[in-house]
Amino acid sequence: MMGKGLRSVLFFFGVFSLLRISHGDLSYSVPEEMKRGSVVGNIAADLGLDSKRLSERKARLNADGSGKRLVDIDYSTGKMIVEEIADREEICGSRLSCVLKYSLVLEKPLELHAVTLQIEDVNDNSPQFSTDSIKIEIRESAVKGTAFLLAEAHDADVGQNSVQRYSLEKNAHFSLNIRSNSDGGKYSELVLDKELDRELEQYLTLLLTATDGGVPQRTGSVVINITVLDANDNAPVFSQSTYRVNLPENCGIGTSVVTISASDIDEGMNGEVVYEFSKLSDKAARAFSLDKTNGEIKVIGQIDYEEESFYELRIQAKDGLGLASNTKVIVEVIDVNDNKPIINIQSISSPVPENTESGTEVGIINVQDKDSGENQQIQCSIQENVPFKLNPSIKNFYSIVTTGPLDREVLTEYSLTIVATDEGSPPLSSSKIIMLSISDVNDNYPVFKEQLYSAYIAENNKPGTSVCSVTATDPDWRQNGTVLYSLVPSEVNGVSVSSFLSVNAETGVIHAVRSFDYEQFRSFKVQVVARDNGSPPLSSNTTVSVFISDENDNSPQILYPAPEEKSLMTEMVPKAALSGSLVSKVIAVDADSGQNAWLSYHILKSTDPGLFTIGLHSGEIRAQRDISESDSMKQNLVISVKDNGQPPLSTTCSVYLLISDNLAEVPELKDMTYEENNSNLTSYLIIALVSVSTFFLTFIILILAVRFCHRRKPRLLFDGAVAIPSAYLPPNYAEVEGAGTLRSSYNYDAYLTTGSRTSDFKFIRSYNDNTLPSTLTLKRSPNEKDIFEDSFIADTKDSEVSRCYFLFVLYL
Ligand SMILES: *[C@@H]1O[C@H](CO)[C@@H](O)[C@H](O)[C@H]1NC(C)=O
Ligand SMILES: *[C@@H]1O[C@H](CO)[C@@H](O)[C@H](O)[C@H]1NC(C)=O
Repeated sequence: MMGKGLRSVLFFFGVFSLLRISHGDLSYSVPEEMKRGSVVGNIAADLGLDSKRLSERKARLNADGSGKRLVDIDYSTGKMIVEEIADREEICGSRLSCVLKYSLVLEKPLELHAVTLQIEDVNDNSPQFSTDSIKIEIRESAVKGTAFLLAEAHDADVGQNSVQRYSLEKNAHFSLNIRSNSDGGKYSELVLDKELDRELEQYLTLLLTATDGGVPQRTGSVVINITVLDANDNAPVFSQSTYRVNLPENCGIGTSVVTISASDIDEGMNGEVVYEFSKLSDKAARAFSLDKTNGEIKVIGQIDYEEESFYELRIQAKDGLGLASNTKVIVEVIDVNDNKPIINIQSISSPVPENTESGTEVGIINVQDKDSGENQQIQCSIQENVPFKLNPSIKNFYSIVTTGPLDREVLTEYSLTIVATDEGSPPLSSSKIIMLSISDVNDNYPVFKEQLYSAYIAENNKPGTSVCSVTATDPDWRQNGTVLYSLVPSEVNGVSVSSFLSVNAETGVIHAVRSFDYEQFRSFKVQVVARDNGSPPLSSNTTVSVFISDENDNSPQILYPAPEEKSLMTEMVPKAALSGSLVSKVIAVDADSGQNAWLSYHILKSTDPGLFTIGLHSGEIRAQRDISESDSMKQNLVISVKDNGQPPLSTTCSVYLLISDNLAEVPELKDMTYEENNSNLTSYLIIALVSVSTFFLTFIILILAVRFCHRRKPRLLFDGAVAIPSAYLPPNYAEVEGAGTLRSSYNYDAYLTTGSRTSDFKFIRSYNDNTLPSTLTLKRSPNEKDIFEDSFIADTKDSEVSRCYFLFVLYL
């Protein structure tokens, strides 16, 4: 109905335009697609002709050019009608005005009229897209506002009937922007309103519709297929935000620690993940490696709990275009008992004085173990059986204390092996040797090698002769053990002992200071002190007994006949003396002792050899045969007295014998005695002098004997006046106490007797008293048991009788 209305309007306009070209040209317009027979215009009327005239005048329409006629004249009515349905789009394409030109030819008269026919557009075409679908690829990274040009839709119609609008199916991401191009055509752009996410929606389908402006409207649509292209918009994601690994220390190189993994949902290169350490300490860098592609962490270096017990590895995973994310791997190293305990000596007070009390601290040690836990617990001990122990003190410290007495003289140095063992399994141990030296304290007395020393020295020694040597040892150290010797001041016979002996302070060799005389004294004692050099010093002493041994330094002394008074001593021999009768006796003594004093007697020369003999040891002169008248009255014997020393010493004397019974014959004596002396006066003077002195001497001896024996022994046997000079009394015979062999051989009493009628005396020793200073002998008190004690003991053992007196039995 609407179409019919519109056509009539158009028709009306056609008529109106016809009027305007009434000068001769005709112009009509007709909508396209009019049915055959539809009236375009009334030509007859427009020309002012009767319709019958048209046919008469043979009016006809000639199309200009080669165009189709499309219209024709209906002669009956004189109208122009549609001969052929016209499609404007076919005839004129996209030209806006579609005008066909005709010439109307009339004959009779020939008339020519230009006729124009405008074909009006009718919306008979829908907008159309050139393809069924539009494919667009949009990267998901495309930003808001990005426009994507869309293909234009085409409509064959023109003007209002062409494409006027586009519309887009409602969607979340895009809107449409409509633009016109220079030729007035409209096209659209797809505008991104909201970013795409490939990972959410990879494909989108939208319907684009183009609408024309015709009445009624016609539309055309196309499907837009959008493919969302990946953009690297996703970072890799680790499977764990933190990886925790326990790794035993000392695990070998190449040990796999952990494999980390990160995934990236992006595609292709954007989803390819590589791993790398992002932040790594130097230590960790030496210890671990990371495989770039598979994320495996391996050990490449030494893992030492003691050096590093904890590693934090920060790792970055990166995809192809550089989006990254981080994770960390915490590696806790597990301790393994791989460290020996370490023993440190903190202090040691060596040397330790040997008098250190038990329980004294002498050192401090410290033990350490780098491991941890049980591997760090340490047991400590001293290996040796020594007087030291370890006392645990504050944490890991031990003090070394003594547990018993120390004696430097037994052991000067201790070696302590300290062993420390940890409690790991297997346990590890280490040891350390400590040398502890013991320092000296002056705690030892010097000790003499012997309790008592005996020294023997022959008399007449040279001063300076070494007598003996004493040795004392002191085990202490250096000056504490350095021994110095000295003599204890004392007196021998009232004389300081230092005038007899001296001791070398360092060597202990004892020297005689002077020459000794056996006949003066035979032994003495001296105390020697050995003192060390410590402070205070310690000392001990010993006794040295010095025994002086005899030498044959005294010649026999003839007591009778007195050698000095030669003339006086003449023995009377009875004429009737028989063979074997004792006629005289030679008395001799020797100040030496023993063999040195063992005297033997020999007749060296005699007036009548064979008349007299002398007892080898007794000295008794006996008649060898009966005296006969023929024998010379005066007999002269030269006798030698010889001791038994080496070499022997001897003395000679002369004995004058007068064979006579009558004292009156005595005056001849002088001739006999002094044959060689011619001076009678001198003889007489000598006789007188000798007589006086003999008498005097006898008197002195008597006095002395009486006095002496009165003290010692009241009973003094004394039978006659004997003239023996005290000076000749021999000293004691050497009888050394304790020297048994000597004693037996020396056991020789000077027990001299004369069996003769004229002289016979007994000599019982007591001479010792005389040789000693009277003060010593006589004032002997019990507390003065001095060095002569031994000698006295020897004496007191003898009979009391023999101690102190002489017995001279003189037969005249
Ligand atoms: C000797 O002993 C004393 C303590 O009696 C001591 O002080 C000193 O060091 C010792 N001397 C030596 C050389 O050992
Ligand atoms: C000698 O030693 C004894 C005992 O050892 C001691 O009593 C005496 O005093 C010492 N004498 C000297 C002079 O040191």
